[in-house]
Amino acid sequence: MDPKILFWAAALANLGVLCGFGLFGVRYARRGEIARHRRNMRIASLLIVAFLAAYLLKVAFLGREDQSLWSGVDVWVLRVHELFVVFMLGGGIVAWLQGRKIEGTRLVTRDPADPAPDPKVARTHRIAGRTAVVAGLLAFVMAIGVLAGMIARAGS
Ligand code: HEM
Repeated sequence: MDPKILFWAAALANLGVLCGFGLFGVRYARRGEIARHRRNMRIASLLIVAFLAAYLLKVAFLGREDQSLWSGVDVWVLRVHELFVVFMLGGGIVAWLQGRKIEGTRLVTRDPADPAPDPKVARTHRIAGRTAVVAGLLAFVMAIGVLAGMIARAGS
């Protein structure tokens, strides 16, 4: 099989797994299990970093995709997928930075003696985090379409 298709199939599986960690991470946050929430979000972030490193290697050794052979619809599916990836990365970075600001607060420590968080920071964290998780899921759905297009082109 085409090594590029194998690479993208592995990338799709990686994105699916990291979305799973993100979804469970949200669930933990809602239950107040913040240590687990942090751990899940850290694993999801590391999987993104691993993908970015693998992607650089892929471009170096296998090259880029030849989009001149793609239909207009296929290119649009890719662009929308990329847009969701940008939202996932942007939301994740903002959530991470805001999450660090609430770290010593009672929202994280669950100790009423600790200071209360700035509600604006906690709210920004929640919104950015939800944006990242939803964008990741939508990026995953669009990536299925991108990979399906690649497989169809390889077979024709
Ligand atoms: C520095 C690491 C992090 C810490 C300490 C942290 C902590 C928290 C806390 C305490 C809450 C509950 C907020 C509240 O009840 O108002 C929360 C919620 C949330 N966090 Fe994080 N977080 C971190 C990283 C992340 C990252 C990287 C993401 C996303 C990529 C994320 C996504 C979310 C989401 C979506 C919620 C809201 C869940 C909901 O109620 O729907 N967090 N986080």
